[in-house]
Parts: sequence; C-alpha cells; structure tokens
Amino acid sequence: MLDELEKGRWPSFVSDMKQEAAAREKTKVDLQAPRESIDDLLGLLELTYQDKVVHWKHGGIVGVFGYGGGVIGRYCDQPDQFPGVRDFHTLRVNQPGNKFYSTEYLRQLCDLWERRGSGITNMHGSTGDIILLGTTTPQLEEIFYELTHNLHQDLGGSGSNLRTPSDCLGMARCEYACYDTTALCYNLTMEYQDELHRPAFPYKFKFKFDGCPNGCVASIARADMSIIGTWRDDIRIDQAAVKAYVGGEFKPNGGAHSGRDWGTFDIQKEVIDLCPTHCMSWNGKKLVIDNKECNRCMHCINVMPRALRIGLDRGASILFGAKAPILEGAQMSTLTIPFVKVEEPYDEIKAIIEKVWDYWAEEGRNRERLGELMQRQGFQKFLEVLGLKPDPRMIREPRSNPYVFWKEEDVPGGWERDIQEFRKKHKK
Ligand code: HEM
Ligand code: HEM
Ligand code: SF4
Ligand code: SF4
Repeated sequence: MLDELEKGRWPSFVSDMKQEAAAREKTKVDLQAPRESIDDLLGLLELTYQDKVVHWKHGGIVGVFGYGGGVIGRYCDQPDQFPGVRDFHTLRVNQPGNKFYSTEYLRQLCDLWERRGSGITNMHGSTGDIILLGTTTPQLEEIFYELTHNLHQDLGGSGSNLRTPSDCLGMARCEYACYDTTALCYNLTMEYQDELHRPAFPYKFKFKFDGCPNGCVASIARADMSIIGTWRDDIRIDQAAVKAYVGGEFKPNGGAHSGRDWGTFDIQKEVIDLCPTHCMSWNGKKLVIDNKECNRCMHCINVMPRALRIGLDRGASILFGAKAPILEGAQMSTLTIPFVKVEEPYDEIKAIIEKVWDYWAEEGRNRERLGELMQRQGFQKFLEVLGLKPDPRMIREPRSNPYVFWKEEDVPGGWERDIQEFRKKHKK
C-alpha cells in the first residue's frame, strides 16, 4: 500500500524513507541504532495501513539526566517482527529563532543523527522543535552529550512544562514586524530554561510570538500566551505609491492573486469597502484613514504593502488561554493586555508571565490548561491576578445573562442580613 504513495507530484515521504533505508544498508558509518530501523519502520507502517490501527505501545518514559522532558519514548508492539523499531524514541531539539540555519550546522546534526539515530527527522514539529525521529534508549545520553558539547545545542520541551517557544520570522525578513519576535523568543527561551527542562506546572504551557496580526506562527490559536505585534499611532501612507497601485503599476497583495484574472485593481472594492471598521476613504486622489477607528486588521497594508506601512509607535498585544478541544473545548487566546512596549530586557513582559505562572501553578487543577482555569475561575479573577483594570477592549461584547457576582464590599450593608429585621416590615 505504501508504494502507492510514491506516485503523484507531491514529494513522497515513502520515497524519501526508502532512499534513507538504502543509504543505511550500504553506509560505512558505525551505526549505533539498528541498521534496518527505516526498513522496519516502513514495514510497521505497512502493517498499520492494513490493520488501520497504530502499532506503538502505550506511553514510554525515557529521557536524559537533569531534565524531566525533551524525549518522547516509544516502543513497537510487534518487536519480534520489526526489531529495528523495538524502541524508537523521539528527541525534541530546540530550533533557532526563525528556523534560519547554516548548512554547516545542519550537516553536523545530520552526521550525529545518522550515526546515533534512525536518520529520519521531522523538520519541524508543530511547536517548532527539530524532531529527531527514532533512536534507542542507550543512545539518548550519547546524543545529548554530542548535541551540547559539539553543537552547543539543547533539547526542547515536553511534558507539563514550558514548551519550546517559537516565532514568526519577524524583522529578519518582514516589513510588517512590530517588534523583534526572534529576540524576544530567544530571550524568554533562555530566561525560562528551568521551566522548559524540568516540568513544574499543572500542565503544558506554550509561548508564541507573532510580529503582527497576520499571525504567521498562529500564536492566537496555538499558544497559552500569544504575543502579537501592533502599533498605536497612524498608518504611514505614501500617496504617490497609492496612485501607482490605482494606476496598475504596482500589483495588489504583492502579486499574490496573479494566478487568476481578477480584473484591474479597484481600490474602492478591494480596500476601502473591505475595511472592517469603514474608516478609510479614497476620493480618486488621496487615501485617508481615520486611524482612531482603525483596528489594525492589516488588510489595507497587506493589499498595498508598498504604499501603506505600520505605525512607528510599536509594541504588542498579549492574549492568553488558547488550547485544543480536550477537555473543555477549543479556545483561542483572549485579549488581556491591549498594548505593551516590547523592549529589552523585557522586564514588563517577564513580570506578566511570572504572575500568570504563580497563579496557575497554585490554582490550576491537575492537567488543566491556563485557558480552562480562566474559564473556571473567571476572566475577572485573571485580571485581579495580573493587577489589571477591566477594559472594554478585553471583551467582544458585554454579557447577556444577568448572573452577575458582586463583591460584598461593593454592596451597601454587605451580605449579613437578619430575617427578623425583614419580618418587621414583611409579615409571613
Ligand atoms: C406579586 C407577585 C410577584 C411579582 C411582582 C413577581 C415579579 C417577578 C419579577 C419581576 C421577576 C423577574 C423577571 C425577569 O427578570 O425576567 C420574576 C421572576 C420569577 N418569578 Fe416572580 N413575581 C411574583 C410572584 C411569583 C410567584 C408566586 C412565583 C412562584 C410560585 C414566582 C416565581 C418566579 C420565578 C420562578 C421567576 C424566575 C426567576 C429566575 O429564574 O430568574 N413569582 N418575578
Ligand atoms: C423532577 C422535577 C424537576 C426537574 C427534572 C427540573 C429540571 C429543571 C431544569 C433542567 C432546569 C433548568 C436549569 C438550568 O437552566 O440550568 C430547571 C429550572 C428551574 N426549575 Fe425545575 N425541575 C423540576 C422540578 C421543579 C419544581 C417542582 C419547581 C418549582 C416548584 C421548579 C422550579 C424551577 C425554577 C424556578 C427553575 C429556574 C431556575 C433558574 O433559571 O435558575 N422545578 N428545572
Ligand atoms: S506575523 Fe506579521 S510580522 Fe510576522 S512574518 Fe507574518 S506578516 Fe510578518
Ligand atoms: S488596518 Fe484594517 S481597520 Fe485599519 S484602516 Fe486598514 S483595513 Fe481598515
């Protein structure tokens, strides 16, 4: 069945694995993991395709001394038939910011992994890590020693801890970046190494850093703490460049839709009328933006990147609570801090993080994500913990139900009432 997946134009993982299996068969490298590991992996996968069930045993707890996470242990449930994948553990290796590499680094990593692992990888895991896919328990410390001593490279996170943070490529290659995502990602990764390597939390916790609301690392959906760049002054307009778009000299959206004929660019239809807050106007000569009504959705900038640019007073919004469905349903992060300056050494952001962790580590139930704790104890409690005043920007709409809790100190007379006092005025 797997052979079928070598057909078609999309790069075939089966062909790649076969190529690696063949290379392992004849290599002169002194392989430390089974020579037939990829052959057996393909065999096991073929069996899985036939049976339509996985053939990995439940769980697996392995690792390296000093750390409580970073390696995902895995054992095949058909070890006699496929001894090459009897144990087939995965190492998470903390990727560099932006995932920018030198070939020298990658070659070193490949040499290490060819010798001590299966030779196959995942570039990259969804959280961001380099995934070294498949090795045996005795190799773990060996790999870790070589990673740290030769490549100056640490493991990533797994378990109930801070997972490996990841970022959009930000200022490295994007004109929309409102802060240096890579610098912040790196700084916080280094600052919280202890929380990343030694699980101390009720459950997992993820940071992600988007340079602007386009969300290229999807922080709002895939991180308990989402840091999303924004600005709070005016969008910068180059009127001559706007005219160049209108005149057809510049392609809209950087040419992103050139695969199909959408007609000539119509600024009214494609920008002004699509602005979600209707705060733009175009009179044929001049583009005007009522910036106090702009919600910085990015649409106009995305369409006319050569004419419109992000403001100069930049920072980020911080949102909390995103998670996948288990247990209480999927959540995206909720706006908690509308604007914060993002400047080294990031003390303000670190103070926020530590308040959240102190609260969640104390109050969170076993395997309760931050987003679920926020639901259980309420957003109001979360604001108290952070020392923030409620702000209309924190909600999409006010509550519709009237089940409002009041604090006793805010209600004249408090909660202590005597029924006899009431009866004096109201007979039974
Ligand atoms: C002079 C007599 C009464 C007055 C003036 C009165 C008035 C009200 C008012 C203003 C509400 C709130 C409606 C709303 O928020 O939509 C309400 C709700 C209610 N009343 Fe009465 N009521 C009276 C008698 C009774 C009696 C005799 C019963 C039952 C035996 C009763 C049962 C309820 C219930 C179950 C609710 C709904 C409570 C809730 O779920 O929020 N009421 N009443
Ligand atoms: C086996 C009998 C009963 C069952 C299964 C039952 C079930 C329910 C359910 C499912 C609700 C909705 C709760 C919610 O929205 O969260 C409710 C609300 C309510 N029931 Fe019953 N009920 C029963 C008997 C009664 C009786 C005998 C009374 C009054 C004499 C009563 C008064 C009410 C009132 C006032 C509410 C509204 C409470 C609120 O909205 O907060 N129920 N009931
Ligand atoms: S999230 Fe924004 S700043 Fe980051 S790469 Fe995407 S468009 Fe650029
Ligand atoms: S960024 Fe969005 S809301 Fe702001 S002016 Fe442009 S289209 Fe309108």
